[in-house]
Amino acid sequence: MKEQILKIKEEAIKSLESVKDLKEFQEVYSKFLGRKAELNTLIKNLKNLELSERKEIGKLINQTKDFLIKAFENKRKELEKEEKEKIDLTEPENLPLLGVKHPVSLIIEEIVDIFRSLGFKIEEGKEIDTEFYNFTALNIPSEHPSRDVFDTFYLDLPLQNNYRWLLRSHTSPSQIHILKRKQLPARFISPGRVYRPENLDASHSFMFHQIEGFYVDKDVKFSHLKGVLNLFAKKLFGKNTETRFRPHYFPFTEPSVEMDVSCFFCSKKGCSVCKKTGFIEILGAGLIHPNVLKACGINPKKWSGFAFGLGIERIAMLKFKISDIRYFTDNDIRFLNSFV
Ligand code: DAH
Repeated sequence: MKEQILKIKEEAIKSLESVKDLKEFQEVYSKFLGRKAELNTLIKNLKNLELSERKEIGKLINQTKDFLIKAFENKRKELEKEEKEKIDLTEPENLPLLGVKHPVSLIIEEIVDIFRSLGFKIEEGKEIDTEFYNFTALNIPSEHPSRDVFDTFYLDLPLQNNYRWLLRSHTSPSQIHILKRKQLPARFISPGRVYRPENLDASHSFMFHQIEGFYVDKDVKFSHLKGVLNLFAKKLFGKNTETRFRPHYFPFTEPSVEMDVSCFFCSKKGCSVCKKTGFIEILGAGLIHPNVLKACGINPKKWSGFAFGLGIERIAMLKFKISDIRYFTDNDIRFLNSFV
């Protein structure tokens, strides 16, 4: 009987060693330690033995059982651990592939949200427009270089009231479309694509995005413009951002300024992004020129306003440290996926 028990033990150890998964384990377990296991049959048969033998064999069976229980338990733990490791957590699930937002859209949304919270309405304007809206109504003189065919894409379409059709070269014409409705006061933000015949390089593209903003009401002053743009800069670039207004010239505003923000990378210490100046130019702005209001049928003695315009790609390149404007239109999935 002793031999039989030792044989069972040996067999059990061998079988246990060859077990590969929890299913096989269960089978081997019932064979050697289950209710119908051989060892249990032996225990039942103990009563047929002499008392002294019964004691000795009984002890051996119990020792063997204890040994096997421990061995099986260890194996079970090992198998469970293996099974867990088999689940590769990095493996993608069978979920549909979701797209991510383009960095240009992210910036537009962020800026639009800031101005929406200040009560501005959103209107996109048109990409195909006429010289009247893109230039004339904006007080841009007929000899101005931006009207040149080298600076604006003209379209081969029949004239409209003697004006050529074109792809808008800035979002400022949105001002005219909206103001001509003469629903005042008006507070609008107008994002969209603009086009200019440029040779492609790291910082120039023939298509890019701008946001135009303006506010026309009774008694709008330069201080209103400064207040709104200050708040905007702090919300977009961080609450410690300082602004700086430099005199500039735009035909559609008077006075005109360019606004710089303190460098959000080096906090004015001077770095490669701000070219060691501590400030970065981000937009053009000013008080709407009386001629622009007149072109929209608005009396500049009763109404005044401010306007501003900024380039989205430029802001996105600064904020996300993108070195080449061509990345925006290359559609390289590795670039696009880095803005999740
Ligand atoms: N339209 C200008 C451009 O394309 C940007 C601009 C400057 C818009 C000053 C404005 C403004 O409304 O007041 O460069």
